[in-house]
Amino acid sequence: MRTDTGRIIHLADYRPTDFVLERVDLTFELDPEATKVEARLIFHRREGTDPAAPLVLDGDELTLSGLLFDQMEMARERYTATPDTLVVRDLPESSPFELTITTVINPQANSQLMGLYRSSGIYCTQCEAEGFRRITYFPDRPDVLAPYTVTIIADKAANPLLLSNGNYLGGGNFDEGRHFAAWFDPHPKPAYLFALVAGDLGVVEDKFTTMSGREVALKIYVEHGKEPRAAYAMDALKRSMKWDEEVFGREYDLDIFMIVAVSDFNMGAMENKGLNVFNDKYVLADPETATDADYANIEAIIAHEYFHNWTGNRITCRDWFQLCLKEGLTVFRDHEFSADQRSRPVKRIAEVRHLRSEQFPEDAGPLAHPVRPDKYREINNFYTTTVYEKGSEVTRMIATILGRDLFKKGMDLYFERHDGEAATVEDFVRCFEAASGRDLGQFSLWYNQAGTPHVSVAAAYDAAGKTLTLEIGQTVPPTPGQADKKPMHIPLDLALVLEDGTIAAPTSVEGAEMTGSVLHLKEARHKVIFTGIPSRPALSLNRSFSAPVVVRYDQKPADLALIARHETDLFSRWQAITDLALPALKDAARAARKGEAIQIDVTFADALLAVAADPALEPAFRAQALTLPSEADIARELGGDNDPDAIHAGREAVLTAIARTGAETFGSLYDTMTPDGGYSPDAASAGRRALRNAALLYRTIAADTPALAAEAFAKADNMTDLAQALTVLAHRFPEAPETHAALAAFEARFAENALVIDKWFQIQATIPGDGALARVMRLKGNRHFNENNPNRVRSLVGAFVFSNPTGFNRADGAGYRFLSEEILRIDAKNPQLAARLLTSMRSWRQLEPARAELARTALVRVEREVLSNDVRDIVDRTLK
Ligand code: ARG
Ligand code: ZN
Repeated sequence: MRTDTGRIIHLADYRPTDFVLERVDLTFELDPEATKVEARLIFHRREGTDPAAPLVLDGDELTLSGLLFDQMEMARERYTATPDTLVVRDLPESSPFELTITTVINPQANSQLMGLYRSSGIYCTQCEAEGFRRITYFPDRPDVLAPYTVTIIADKAANPLLLSNGNYLGGGNFDEGRHFAAWFDPHPKPAYLFALVAGDLGVVEDKFTTMSGREVALKIYVEHGKEPRAAYAMDALKRSMKWDEEVFGREYDLDIFMIVAVSDFNMGAMENKGLNVFNDKYVLADPETATDADYANIEAIIAHEYFHNWTGNRITCRDWFQLCLKEGLTVFRDHEFSADQRSRPVKRIAEVRHLRSEQFPEDAGPLAHPVRPDKYREINNFYTTTVYEKGSEVTRMIATILGRDLFKKGMDLYFERHDGEAATVEDFVRCFEAASGRDLGQFSLWYNQAGTPHVSVAAAYDAAGKTLTLEIGQTVPPTPGQADKKPMHIPLDLALVLEDGTIAAPTSVEGAEMTGSVLHLKEARHKVIFTGIPSRPALSLNRSFSAPVVVRYDQKPADLALIARHETDLFSRWQAITDLALPALKDAARAARKGEAIQIDVTFADALLAVAADPALEPAFRAQALTLPSEADIARELGGDNDPDAIHAGREAVLTAIARTGAETFGSLYDTMTPDGGYSPDAASAGRRALRNAALLYRTIAADTPALAAEAFAKADNMTDLAQALTVLAHRFPEAPETHAALAAFEARFAENALVIDKWFQIQATIPGDGALARVMRLKGNRHFNENNPNRVRSLVGAFVFSNPTGFNRADGAGYRFLSEEILRIDAKNPQLAARLLTSMRSWRQLEPARAELARTALVRVEREVLSNDVRDIVDRTLK
């Protein structure tokens, strides 16, 4: 474990390396416990740098077992090696030289899953962000790019497959039952994109012909026997390759593209050049074992990693502060891909739900940081929803401000100017300025100022003058290290919806620039006057969620109902329905908190039920309308002093009211939204299932018996329906015999499939109420649980702490104590996983005082221990 040094890295301290790396030649002799790594590195001193400067290479838990300078033993006094650095002195002033560094590492013992490790008998690597330094001493930073040659030597019987980046050079047999393979990657790359995989795996093969007619071999490697479950991933890969050619003009650039699925992985997947490594959860799918959501995730993540080949690999980041340059942009690209492959409005609703429930709390709490941070203590902790999802929103705003054609022109310029380079956010923004002639200086604050801006709106309609006046203000709340903020450039898409449902076309707009339907807010306050508005309009604000802001506008329910019925922007229709339901959810939670009886006025449900029953709308959208804001969303809207039990009780009361009012609608939806024919994972079929499953939930709530869900469980012929039926049973009737029977049947049927057992863990870990903690502790003893596997830990412990507000936030604080113990144990093995779990405490200050104090005590308990750099960073910031 790399423990904390307290060292903070600052963006302002960036400077290029003293030495230029020309070439990398690696030889691995694989052995589970003693893998020998020989790295031949050719360097020359950068022109204009200090001729006496030593070469400083990074390491992490390494021991040096040999060092040659131009093939000769290096004199002992010329270098110093510690586990985390190798310093070499007296190097040539200008001529190139070669260092040959030998290290011996233990992949089997690598429980951090960073660097080279072994998972279920497979050797694999994870080098982003700083894993390569656990393999050999190296200038391990993203601005050091070089072509790599890699030779892998291993026992042939155990490791018939030997893979690395780039194109295959050749291979052959070696002594003592060993063999070797050599790979060459001609595209200069930073070490974080290096990958090696060895072992015995099955393969699914296909090919793709690029737009210029080159044939690319496609291979997806999975455990033997699981090949049929990789078919959907392969299909998604081919669609991604085609889409990137058509929409971004980007062609693939090697002869082969490989994906390897592994079962122990700290995150979703990794875009190593030509050799993506995936968490098997995001590769394997078939109707029996994967839900519609799993299929959608696989499609999105396959696309994401593939798209990185241009946005991340061909153009990489100068330093880790620029992480959003590749991640935010690539998330934007995968969002656009999914929107094109599926339903754009439904995709947008899902993105915004995710942003609000994950990124908004991050931006409002102690872990808030800018999309491009300017300091960090542990870079692993900055693979956040702010860098990824808010980073994507910032890219989307550039597209909104410039319009489609100029955005495309800017992207083309970016690829043209920076191909082969390690770039910065400034480089990126400059391309859009050059393409459009627009000044994006103020806009760039989105990269540097943390916190979600609040936009407040007040409207006054003057019937005599037929004018509408909007007073619009913006504020950006203070965040850690940033007390005062400047006004931002906020592109606010809006529509003025008239009584007859049409959208008004103003004859003039004064007080702010308007392009199309987008108002450009740039000042702290604007007074915007629209003329030629025939009657008082309803205001539809932030259409399609054009900016990641919170809009405060006191909407009349009648106006929201009008928008819910008539807006041409479907996202805004959904938003209006949500806004109609929110007051009821908040009032109910407040009443429950005060111990008062909950009264619900269900008039708001009319609009929701009208949309749910509207055959002209796609089922997936109708299902979204029926999905109320989550308990975490309501907590955020309440804004503090939160009691999760009261929020839960209030939401339940609202659900019950809707279930009763809409009984007829739900009955007919349940009967009519049946599948036609066998299962297909396409978006339209998934939408029908989503709508029917929403109806199942409401019908069960109204009936208050497990019968219907038990029947649905028995009849389900696909995992989407089966998992939903099980969720309804377990969450609503945890002690019913039907539930016990269904849980047992599910466990027995899928005992051999760990990814499905993860669903079983997750469903039980999220059963609301005080009983959850005991259930989670009991499940930790289940034979399928494995504390060393990140997917298992996330499905049980992660689901409990992140997705079970009442269970985790038990009034006696036992949930927090449990988490603190888990963190300390997991940290010793896998700091990244532990640190990620601990971010579940990021909103502790929003809790009512008694719970907040118990949460703080648990955090302090963690804070007092010897910790990894990862957990130290999170706990210190969370408590600050
Ligand atoms: N670059 C990977 C992606 O596609 C994620 C890598 C995460 N690495 C880490 N150390 N957390 O998003
Ligand atoms: Zn990524």
